[in-house]
Amino acid sequence: MLLIPMMTLAGTVKSPNGNVVVNFSVDAQGRPVYEMTYKNQPVVRPSHMGFLLAKDKHASKKMEETDLVAGFRIKSENTSAFDETWKPVWGETAEIRNHYVEYVAVLQQQTEQREMTVRFRVYDDGIGFRYEFPQQQNLNYFIIKEEQTEFAMTGDHTAWWIPGDYDTQEYETTESKLSEIKNSWEKTLRDSRGNSSATPFSPTGVQTSLQMKTAEGLYVNIHEAACVNYATMHLNLEVRGKGQETKEYTFVSHLTPDATGLKGCMQTPCNSPWRTVMVSDDARDMLSSNLILNLNEPCALDDVSWIHPTKYCGVWWEMIVGKSNWHYTDDFPSIYLDKIDWKTVKPHGRHAANNEKVRRYIDFAAENGLDEVLVEGWNVGWEDWANMWKRDVFDFVTPYPDFDLKALNDYAHSKGVKLMMHHETSSSTQNYERHLEAAYSLMNKYGYDAVKSGYVGDIIPRGDHHYSQSMNDHYLYCVKEAAKHHIMVNAHEATRPTGLCRTYPNLVGNESARGTEYEAFGGSRPDHTVVLPFTRLQGGPMDYTPGVLETQLKTWSDNQNYVHTTLVGQLALYVTFYSPLQMAADLPENYAKYMDAFQFIRDVACDWSDSRYLEAEPGDYITVARKAKGTDNWFVGGKCDEQGHKSIVKLDFLDKGRKYDCTIYQDAPDADYEKNPKAYLITKKTVKAGDVLKLTEARGGGFAVSLIAK
Ligand code: NOJ
Ligand code: CA
Repeated sequence: MLLIPMMTLAGTVKSPNGNVVVNFSVDAQGRPVYEMTYKNQPVVRPSHMGFLLAKDKHASKKMEETDLVAGFRIKSENTSAFDETWKPVWGETAEIRNHYVEYVAVLQQQTEQREMTVRFRVYDDGIGFRYEFPQQQNLNYFIIKEEQTEFAMTGDHTAWWIPGDYDTQEYETTESKLSEIKNSWEKTLRDSRGNSSATPFSPTGVQTSLQMKTAEGLYVNIHEAACVNYATMHLNLEVRGKGQETKEYTFVSHLTPDATGLKGCMQTPCNSPWRTVMVSDDARDMLSSNLILNLNEPCALDDVSWIHPTKYCGVWWEMIVGKSNWHYTDDFPSIYLDKIDWKTVKPHGRHAANNEKVRRYIDFAAENGLDEVLVEGWNVGWEDWANMWKRDVFDFVTPYPDFDLKALNDYAHSKGVKLMMHHETSSSTQNYERHLEAAYSLMNKYGYDAVKSGYVGDIIPRGDHHYSQSMNDHYLYCVKEAAKHHIMVNAHEATRPTGLCRTYPNLVGNESARGTEYEAFGGSRPDHTVVLPFTRLQGGPMDYTPGVLETQLKTWSDNQNYVHTTLVGQLALYVTFYSPLQMAADLPENYAKYMDAFQFIRDVACDWSDSRYLEAEPGDYITVARKAKGTDNWFVGGKCDEQGHKSIVKLDFLDKGRKYDCTIYQDAPDADYEKNPKAYLITKKTVKAGDVLKLTEARGGGFAVSLIAK
């Protein structure tokens, strides 16, 4: 670690290689202003920073109500450099360099006699900045009405955006100019056929991480890091200036409100999350950047030996597709958990989480080297679980009569496999917190070490939102409690990640975007999977649940939908979507039809010592090579949109002088995600460093390559 005081021109900070420069000042009204350049080109034009404070219903001397917007002067400044390399518990690379120049300005609001600090960290690939509120006589408690951080863009950029929403991210991404967001907003909502809990707030509101590209070919990405005890930030686009030539496109922060409509209750000392702007003239740098992780605090857990990358299958896809059910009986108009004797209840016969089926999945996992088996619908309460405003919806400990908790766990363990727990909370958060200790203790008792949790439906208590300060607090509370029980967490429908997995590496996954399940609900466009790594994945891994090789669902169910990739495209996702948690989502009987292709899912790693992004363009294609941790083996994946892609992979990352057994899984020449998705070729050869693979990806297709060192 290095902390060197440096001499700088007041308010101007350069990144270590000088490419990124931030200028900070206070204008004539005493408003804080920052701007940012990359290789001497403007990226963020002068933009204001500050907070509107709310009036509290209790008039109290201690509650500050004067805005933190203007009247500031710079009381002191300090610049320093930092350079440290750290090792993530799991990740895309074995080591991560955290190298930045930091600038801190202590601002004093003269009339109010209050202080607010702004801290900038300037990296070679972007910046992070945050507000800090020291404890002080005149600033102890305050309520945020709105954060007013501006990101003034330099032009009408192309953006890959989803509608701003207080409750869901399960949208299709729209690619449009900033000027077209307002007009495309309604269509995006309609086309997405979205989530059961959705609160879009404005036709000019978008979510982060927001990926953009300028006319000059710069890639710019806005997100946030380390969102703790704070509401999730959206961006609201304001178009300022009248004439076509003079229009200015400025994003202004828009925080998620709580049930009262306010945005945050603060007690000093405290700070905001980091606001981040990544920039490069090479799209690949957007994917390899570690800026968000670096801005998070180091690991807070002393013992991480129990945290492990996990490949899993599950009793899941057949329910999503509609062939079987989570619930057990149709005999009751409604369920009171404590008033039913489940042993005497008549089953409807389509309950998936039954002893026989779960055993089959355990056998399949054991035979194919999968670590865990997720079982959903194992616990009572699914009869009326969603959208009933029912607080006491699940107890997370009582199994249905046909699920033998002890026998199934014993059976799994005897085969070297673990069951993965499922806690659908139905967004009834009070209920979940009340049962959490018992639920995690039950997991410890039976040998579960991972839980998939879920937040379907509107938040109970009513009025709160999935991304509010209080809900963000809830998700982190569950992760911290889980760590005490040595439990890994994968939370669905929770807030989108901001890199907290660095601090709490037992947060191994999140959904927080439109996952593979939507392929059974009407589908997602083929470009979806070549957008998400630029957007949703910036803050942390996604449990995307790939591996649906039987892409045409009607071949085994009544569901007429199909997966919008080729079969090989599904294999590619194990490499292009980085995650320490990877599902093999399809049914064992479907894999049985494609065992030669399934071999890639068996072989592919989910923890890496190195990653090289070889080709990338948002919404078009991504090609990445990764080295499996603890081995000399590499895996390469390429994924493209509906246009197809010709990829040239130079194997210059391989060890010189070494030979590798290379297996190539590629789309057949006539493959096409709509017309001929399951046409594939598997070829094997020996390769060495410097060899070149020329691979053609079909429409909606991809490729996957394994390179096993000889
Ligand atoms: C939505 C989740 O994304 C899905 O994976 C899960 O099966 C259902 N909720 C039920 O919990
Ligand atoms: Ca979901």
